[in-house]
Parts: sequence; structure tokens; C-alpha cells
Amino acid sequence: MARRPIIAGNWKMNNNKAEAKELVDGIVYGISSLDASKMPEVVIAPTYTALWQAYDLIKNEPKIALAAQNVNPNPSGAYTGEISLDMLADFRVQFVIIGHSERRQMFGETDEFINQKAKAILAKGLIPIICCGETLEQREQGVTDSHLENQITKALDGISASDVEKSVIAYEPIWAIGTGKSCDAVEANRTIGQIRKVVAKLYSQDVADKIRILYGGSVKPSTIVEQMAQPEIDGGLIGGAALKADSFIDLIKGAM
Ligand code: 13P
Repeated sequence: MARRPIIAGNWKMNNNKAEAKELVDGIVYGISSLDASKMPEVVIAPTYTALWQAYDLIKNEPKIALAAQNVNPNPSGAYTGEISLDMLADFRVQFVIIGHSERRQMFGETDEFINQKAKAILAKGLIPIICCGETLEQREQGVTDSHLENQITKALDGISASDVEKSVIAYEPIWAIGTGKSCDAVEANRTIGQIRKVVAKLYSQDVADKIRILYGGSVKPSTIVEQMAQPEIDGGLIGGAALKADSFIDLIKGAM
């Protein structure tokens, strides 16, 4: 069964109002001439402050879906600075990125908190993009696969097979993020194959065959074609190269 590829742009903490408008306008324009039947699922994850504007600019463009970069798993209440799933649903947000290494490392997010978020996102009918990835030190120590198994097992704890098969995992080796040094496509394919085996072990081969697993880490228009040619890689979660419309459109074309 073919898995539909995803090209997702994670804007991180970039783009003020004018920049966000320019980028979304450019993507909408670039995408308008592409054949929807051949396109990957295209997802953009603006900052919270740009979500309303992005929602408004793409509301007549079904080829683009919105993601949030984070969410708080609690329904509402005294959580200063946080955003709930209910608020995201107002903007027809369909995906939420969770477990990004930047949030794990800089904001102390734990596997347990990421698991709580995954459950809350799925309960609300949205799709989590669950990030995992090893440090350079872990890779050099040869513990990449066991580290990823641990992250994925904890992120999926208590989640049903039917929810897992519609979820998305993004394998983002930390040493490849923002460094310009993408993981070798064959090695990324191997590692993602290992992650799929973990899902098969926890659930079933059928669930593992359905879940989409993306690669992220210095994906560029010059790397995407080779990456997409790998059987295990179902698309990209892209930072820097998703910040310019031309380059984001080239990434989409590279996945067609
Ligand atoms: P870069 O594409 O800038 O390396 O970022 C990858 C990433 O962290 C996407 O979530």
C-alpha cells in the first residue's frame, strides 16, 4: 500500500506578519500550477502569531494544510503562554509537531509530556508529527537505534493502533538540523526502517506499513530527490529551506 508523501515546512521562530504573508502568498502562487493528483501532502507550520493570517490566505487552497509547532495538552486554564487544541482547531490546524529536539533540549520537554500531547492531539482528531532523533555523541557511540526505539516507545505509550497508523513520525538527527549536513539518504532510509520495525513490534506490520515517517535535517532542493527515492522515507520536515517560497516549491516538486 502506497503511503502519501508529506512535505512539511517548520518555520520555527521566523517570519513576522509581512514575511509570513509574502511566504504564504508565494507558496499559494507556486502551488497553483501543480497537479494535485501527483502532489505530496503539503503542510506549513507557521508561528502561532502567523496562524490566523496563514489560515486566511490558504482557506481557498485545499492543497495546503496547517500545522502548529506545539500545543499544550490541557483543555484550558491557568497555563500562561500556552495554546490549547481548541484554539488550534479554530484555524483548521490539522497537524501538530511534537517532540522536536529544540523543545526537548531547550525547553526541557520529557517523553512523558510528549506522550500526553500525542494523546490529546489524537483525541481531538488532529495528527501529531512526532519527532525523534539522536545526538552526534549517541550516533558515534552506536546507540542511535536503541535511543530512537526508546523515544518512539514512550511517545506512543497507551495509543491505539488505529491512532498510530494515522500519525506521522519525523526522524530528525540532531546533528543534521540547521547544519547544512544532511544525513546520508541511504543511512536515513536504514534508520527510518528501524523505526518502522519498532512500530511493527509495538503494534503490527500493518500499522508499520501505514504510518508515515519523514526525514528532517538540512533537507534542501538538492537533496530531496535522492531522499524521496528511498523506500522508507515518506517525506520531509524542513526548516531553513521552507522559509523561501521558491525553495519550498522546489521541495514539493522534488517529491512529485
Ligand atoms: P533544517 O531543515 O533547517 O535543518 O531544520 C530541520 C528541522 O528541525 C525541521 O523541524
